[in-house]
Amino acid sequence: MSSRVRPIVRRWLSISLSTLYLGAAPLALADSAILEGERFHPQVGEHGMVATSHYLASQIAHDVLAKGGNAVDAAVTAGFALAVTQPRSGNIGGGGFMLISDEQRDEVIAIDYREKAPAAAYATMFQNDQGEAVPQLSRFTHNASGVPGTVAGLALALDKYGTLSLAEALAPAITLAEEGFSVPPRFAEGLEQAQDRLKQWDSTRKVFYKPDGSNYRAGERFRQPDLAATLKRIAAKGPREFYEGETARLISAEMQRHGGLMTAQDLADYQPRIRQPVHGNYRGYDVYAMSPPSSGGAHIVQMLNILEGYDIHAMGFNSARTIHLMAEAMQRAYADRAKYLGDPDFVDVPLAGLTSPAYAAKLRAEIPLDHATPSTEIAAGKPLPYESNETTHFSIADDNGLAVSNTYTINFSYGSGIVVDGAGFLLNNEMDDFSAKPGAPNAYGLIGGEANKVEPRKRMLSSMTPTIVKKDGKNFLITGSPGGSRIITTTLQVVMNVIDHGMNIQSAVSAPRIHHQWLPDEIRIEDGISPDTQALLEAMGHTLSQQAAMGAAQSILIEPDGTFTGGADPRRSTSSAMGL
Ligand code: GLY
Repeated sequence: MSSRVRPIVRRWLSISLSTLYLGAAPLALADSAILEGERFHPQVGEHGMVATSHYLASQIAHDVLAKGGNAVDAAVTAGFALAVTQPRSGNIGGGGFMLISDEQRDEVIAIDYREKAPAAAYATMFQNDQGEAVPQLSRFTHNASGVPGTVAGLALALDKYGTLSLAEALAPAITLAEEGFSVPPRFAEGLEQAQDRLKQWDSTRKVFYKPDGSNYRAGERFRQPDLAATLKRIAAKGPREFYEGETARLISAEMQRHGGLMTAQDLADYQPRIRQPVHGNYRGYDVYAMSPPSSGGAHIVQMLNILEGYDIHAMGFNSARTIHLMAEAMQRAYADRAKYLGDPDFVDVPLAGLTSPAYAAKLRAEIPLDHATPSTEIAAGKPLPYESNETTHFSIADDNGLAVSNTYTINFSYGSGIVVDGAGFLLNNEMDDFSAKPGAPNAYGLIGGEANKVEPRKRMLSSMTPTIVKKDGKNFLITGSPGGSRIITTTLQVVMNVIDHGMNIQSAVSAPRIHHQWLPDEIRIEDGISPDTQALLEAMGHTLSQQAAMGAAQSILIEPDGTFTGGADPRRSTSSAMGL
């Protein structure tokens, strides 16, 4: 343990470590920690904090910081570790977005490593002869995959902001893949639930199930030799190995065997992009979030702009009035999303208009205070003219003013369900995030328009919302979430819980959430919204739908005195925040 760890923090560390070594320790240890409620207490640190959805990734990222690495070193190392320990969403076969805030340079940048459509992609590729969208094609075939961006994106972050070599950042992931780890209950349950889909493919069955076809059980050791070999090649030859070397050859061969459109040239052509994040201001806090091709930043800023006009604190956390106003703001943002958002390299996204306080004021004026607006009465608004634009999230911060907010994904749990034979990793099914046909909903019920139609080499629209909030130039809140269409509203509520309701970070992350996405016309609620509040909302004309928990917002709050607090989301049983 690092000598940098001061005594006051040791209690939190010991709590955390008792849950971290699930891989090596009897499961009963973790179970008792959960029963005692220890795992989800706020974690505190003086020198830094990591919050990820898997305790092994958190442990590894924590160790990087403890040995003097910076937040980007820890983030890239965690990203590769999650690709091994959490294959339902951690990945090298997908893509994502990373926000990096560097206080010393007073700079926040975004790395866009979103997947891209192959060059041979075309607008009607997921439609049948009658012009109807066929979801099976965009979700569970080789054509469901965009060209993966994760390896290039993480390598770019490390090159630009890190201090470790790529080989050093990959080393823990290689060890985990080669030597294996003890299967957590969530891992075993996930593979069991998805087995009908995953066992269809020989390449996937070989990796994720035992030689006799049976399932791994919690506590058993799980090794991934093909993935270890892939990661070793990348460590030895650099990130272009994935795009031009043996790994690219294995991906191309997988595509050719099954008629997939992605070619060796598509892989060779892939490049991540550095973009300016969306910037807004909420009650004196600077909010930075992902710019297009994610819709996340545009709409979290738009919703915050609308909500800033109300005294949310006085209305109270999850009161009927607060939920009503959040739902009304959400509806209007998601209606605009359907019309205006797409890859900014292809379409003019009216970002300045969508995020302007003047547009928010116009939308706010349309919101009734006492009754729900039916979604049929809401259409995309007219923002000011364009002026010049199963996923996993982790947050990491160090004591040199560097903070990382990263969300990456292969879309569904286990993506397309197809492992690249011989390479040992799952391919994404991110092509389903395009509008297969303008007006047809994607898997999350999100409607897309012309701006998000399939086009060659285009990035599909995302909802991922890695977010960094600063106060007086200092990193303050690092957050984001998985959850498909619920990502933006989950992240919104963590920000509001901290700024409007003064919650500590663990409470802000754990508190029950709501979601409205315009269509369907309902407020989705988690368990924990009081029946009284529900009755008041229904009396206002809202339809409520209680469904499964939403998101997993692994988050960090940095107090004005520099103390780091972490919030691991209890909605994922493997979540872990660790301070040092
Ligand atoms: N695949 C989910 C998203 O990018 O929003």
